[in-house]
Amino acid sequence: MSERTESMRETVRALYDRNRQQGHAPWCGLDYDFICPSNGTYPFQWFWDSGFHAIVLTQTDVARAQAELRSLLANQQPDGFVAHVTFWQRERYEEMLKTYSIAYRTPHLSDCIQPAVIGESLEYVARRGGDAKFVAEHLPKVRRYFDWLDRMRDPDRDGLVAVLQPDESGLDQAPKYDEYLKVSPLEKRHEAFTEAWERVANPYQAVGRDHEKMFALDVFVVEDVLVNTIYALGQAALGRLLADAGDAAGARDFEVRAALTRKSLFEKCWDEKAGLFFDLAGNGERKLTTNSVSSLLPLALPELPQEQAKKLIAHLENPAEYAAAYPVPTVAMNEPGYDPGVVGRSLVYRGPSWMNTNWYLTRGLRLHGRPDLADTVVDRSLALVEREGFREYYNPGTGQGNGAKDFSWTALILEMLAEADASR
Ligand code: GLC
Repeated sequence: MSERTESMRETVRALYDRNRQQGHAPWCGLDYDFICPSNGTYPFQWFWDSGFHAIVLTQTDVARAQAELRSLLANQQPDGFVAHVTFWQRERYEEMLKTYSIAYRTPHLSDCIQPAVIGESLEYVARRGGDAKFVAEHLPKVRRYFDWLDRMRDPDRDGLVAVLQPDESGLDQAPKYDEYLKVSPLEKRHEAFTEAWERVANPYQAVGRDHEKMFALDVFVVEDVLVNTIYALGQAALGRLLADAGDAAGARDFEVRAALTRKSLFEKCWDEKAGLFFDLAGNGERKLTTNSVSSLLPLALPELPQEQAKKLIAHLENPAEYAAAYPVPTVAMNEPGYDPGVVGRSLVYRGPSWMNTNWYLTRGLRLHGRPDLADTVVDRSLALVEREGFREYYNPGTGQGNGAKDFSWTALILEMLAEADASR
């Protein structure tokens, strides 16, 4: 392990001690132990954040990686659903919650999803010294979650799951949804996005948030490329874990499901003219043609055909689109909605570079023959963290860190450094 990786490991350890949340929650009678995204703005347990934290924790303390996933799955519902936020210690933060637009299932659980990073998280734990008993206990839970997605979110059976609200993709205010949400790409007022969110969430409330009725309303149904890339990675990871567990039929089932998700991504979401992947909107599956980082994300799939990989990499290397001083901007720099700094009060995913998307892209670059470019992105990402600390996101031009401070998934830089070491 290189010196820079060793040193980052210690820095991350300290960050993860600062952001650790431990206690007892009387509302469910359970103890919790997890890392919150940021003490200042996000003190609760977020679904895909925790998926990333668990992966980083396999580099520092596998027992805590297990605790992270145990807490994440502790309030799984009987139908398999897992909330995108668990408000373990809600009572301490009532004031803060007034500014969150979130749909609730219960006062302590939100009623929406986030990308299914958890499939890969469990595999990382299993491969990096996780306790066999822990894995055996949690594999069925993660599987039930994926079964819920398959059953509830893929009514047209093409292997692509739909998000029903913009915040379900984790990319809350991404400009790729602007047109669908009837928001101007130049909009900077938080209220405009809250209103757009309400135009989706209110009709859902009126039908009791019943899935069949929510799909039928057709107000926001998006087969999102980033969400489905992560879903495909997770299904494949579960297939391997089930095979290890001796469940050949289960393994086969997940391999087939992962293959269908990939096929639909590669065929239905691909736009040959643009050389990019696009989300499919509405029950009519119309392409949302904004050029954004999620258009590039299928690079993280080992099975991506070489021709498509080449085209995505050309976009990444284009200085007009993604080859910024501090890559990778989450929106192509030549898109009208691109904004590199703090947008409004803090509208997210409208341009800045984020570490989670950088992680998927650097993995993809290594898979598809460009370790050199992966190394460049890792080096530039490290420079950001060293200079600005663990911020939520960074200005691709100046490198300035913005958004939440001490942001936990930015520690994915540690995983990226370890992967760079391994590829030497
Ligand atoms: C913001 C992001 C979301 C993330 C959450 C906590 O809402 O859009 O992706 O999970 O913050 O970090």
